[in-house]
Amino acid sequence: MKILSFESSCDETAVAVLLAEDEQIRVLSNTVATQIDIHRLYGGVVPEIASRAHIDAISALTYEALRESGYTLSDIDLVAVTANPGLIGALLVAVNFAKSLAVANGIPLVPVDHIKGHIAAAYLNTETPPKPPFLALALSGGHTSIYRVDTYTDYKVIGETRDDAIGESFDKIGRMIDIPYPAGKGFDALAKEGFIRATGKTEGFYLAYKKAKLYRGGDFVLPSPALNDGTLDFSFSGLKTAAINLLHRYEQKGLPLDRALFAARYTYEVCEAVAKKISLAIDAHPDVSALVVAGGVAANSHLREVLSRVAKKKGIPLHIPALSLCGDNAAMIGAQGYHEYKNGKRADSTLNASALDSI
Ligand code: KG4
Ligand code: ZN
Repeated sequence: MKILSFESSCDETAVAVLLAEDEQIRVLSNTVATQIDIHRLYGGVVPEIASRAHIDAISALTYEALRESGYTLSDIDLVAVTANPGLIGALLVAVNFAKSLAVANGIPLVPVDHIKGHIAAAYLNTETPPKPPFLALALSGGHTSIYRVDTYTDYKVIGETRDDAIGESFDKIGRMIDIPYPAGKGFDALAKEGFIRATGKTEGFYLAYKKAKLYRGGDFVLPSPALNDGTLDFSFSGLKTAAINLLHRYEQKGLPLDRALFAARYTYEVCEAVAKKISLAIDAHPDVSALVVAGGVAANSHLREVLSRVAKKKGIPLHIPALSLCGDNAAMIGAQGYHEYKNGKRADSTLNASALDSI
């Protein structure tokens, strides 16, 4: 089955073509037009500008995705589109485009939840995709959630953030230490510099950090975002407030801030919290066959390392999408769309978008 898929929930317009058969899903083309340079001027996404930029990009991207795949519209068996959650005006662009295209050409249409899409990136271009039941960790600009996935379409939230999301937290604090929006990638690199300096090691620095003098005796003491209440939930607001207060203190006292050491400490607290909650989740769900980690923040190199260590220790296979499939893209939407279609989901010309979560 050939699938044409669309994504426009935030600041990336994306179109992809996939070839799917049984559990195997191959990416034939995966085009993305990012708006990051436009929104960077404002330090975050401006919804109205995002919608307009999606409209400008989507048509040409669709031609490009089809051309690159080697197929034409008449070969397409299924159209999939992100219908929620996200910025409503942005979502509506791809929803209406996909809907018009599907209805006018008599192609089945399926709506896809963006977060399920992120997880479905783990099914792409692999001969051994994870099979439910598995645990999934969605780490993005808007989500920090742990799910139990019992079938490809049936998700249950077992842990989540009660306030800010993990990506949002990197972006907000990153902005305060002059990392351009979106700060995740720059934060990752700066933290690496800090870990290396704190430990004197260029490899294995994350593991060595806890014993380093600059960790133990350092003055960047920050609280963990892992809630200590027996749940699998997180709260990033305490960490955010403590970090902001610390940065203000440095500024008020005119102290020079070592940005790299600060970024390392912040990253360490975040990574350890995620590792702790996912360990507890694995213990509480011994019947699952795999752990899937996805979303833009799954690109974080320190998190990838710590989670692979947790998975190894627990003896559970870990699936993290390739870096190119961690950020927003349409291939992941097509992958989830395929499973939704197989489960009988269909939409018609009344399909609407929603800003809200559906899981
Ligand atoms: O999944 P995504 O592309 O969009 C949403 O659905 O939100 O995630 C975007 C988030 C941003 O907050 C960005 O700063 C973060 O992912 N991000 C990272 C890294 N690369 C992107 N965060 C930490 N480390 C990274 N390497
Ligand atoms: Zn996303």
